[in-house]
Amino acid sequence: MKVLVTGGTGYVGSHTAVNLIEAGHDVVLWDNLSNSRAAVVERIGALVGTPPTFVQGDVRDAAGLDRLLEKQAFEAVIHFAGLKAVGESAQKPLLYYENNVQGTITLLRALEKAGVRTFVFSSSATVYGDPACVPIREDFPRAATNAYGRSKIMIEDMLSDLVAADPRWRIARLRYFNPIGAHESGLLGEDPQDVPNNLVPYICRVAVGREAVLRVFGADYETPDGTGVRDYIHVRDLALGHVAALRYLQAHPGMLTVNLGTGHGYSVLEVVKAFGQACGRPIPYEIVARRPGDVAQCYADVSAARRLLGWQAVHDLDAMCGDAWRWQERNPQGYET
Ligand code: WQD
Repeated sequence: MKVLVTGGTGYVGSHTAVNLIEAGHDVVLWDNLSNSRAAVVERIGALVGTPPTFVQGDVRDAAGLDRLLEKQAFEAVIHFAGLKAVGESAQKPLLYYENNVQGTITLLRALEKAGVRTFVFSSSATVYGDPACVPIREDFPRAATNAYGRSKIMIEDMLSDLVAADPRWRIARLRYFNPIGAHESGLLGEDPQDVPNNLVPYICRVAVGREAVLRVFGADYETPDGTGVRDYIHVRDLALGHVAALRYLQAHPGMLTVNLGTGHGYSVLEVVKAFGQACGRPIPYEIVARRPGDVAQCYADVSAARRLLGWQAVHDLDAMCGDAWRWQERNPQGYET
């Protein structure tokens, strides 16, 4: 299929582009480069033979989207483009609603006009808020605790209303847990443009000497070792989940909602230990106060994705840390250009 990948030069988008091309799809990347680098396009080319077409653009630009969709006949869209920093969303809620919600409306309007109605949406486990228990199933209540999470819930609800209003739409809402790791070649990886909020990118900065010490946000949670437990999933497994979701939508109209995780939770200290083994030296850390908004445990029930998509994650924590470290070691300053 000819697939438009919005946010395609980003972390999950670029890894998904590689797997889409390897699966025989024709990919066009659309990205405003607000949190990624155009150098990714050549890196993807080095992995799959020739670089995919990249168009610098913003999902809020209706005229730009119309021009693209008039010129190229897409059969599906995977929508990654959006802002995703929980803390920033609390300071800049309108920026998050404009980019994430309004941007998705503008994109959907352009797709409707062009008759493109196969749509995969990058949702997030954040929509579950603080779950009553774990593992989390797709039918659990949603209860975001920040503007970022609320923007994801709003978009999820828009998509279910859209399918109800026009059954020609084929929509997948993929709820990511905690994507980490990198392409095993060391050519693609996570490259935050400022100090990382997330655990593994921050550990990578400590391991490569760009940060001095990891602050562990609380060790007094109701978890085995007191630190937060999350469902870390290798970005390559996550990318393959998108290929499987596209295949599912080709055969099933209507809407699909699945968790994309491993079904297993690891604590912060388990990740710190595994990463120390991957990079060959212990990661210095200090226990500090809890981070506001954090939950104790969050990991997925992944039986729906296994049943419906025939997909499951295959990389373990050591592989995730080993691949993340290879990327960081070979790209100490990220993509740079
Ligand atoms: C993981 C664990 C922290 C940093 C968020 C978003 C989610 C998704 C992934 C976008 C927690 C602890 C972290 C640090 C630490 N993003 N931690 N020191 O908060 O589970 O999820 O990112 O889709 O939507 O909510 O991920 O990596 O920030 O935190 O101790 O410097 O690591 O307390 O227990 P989180 P995270």
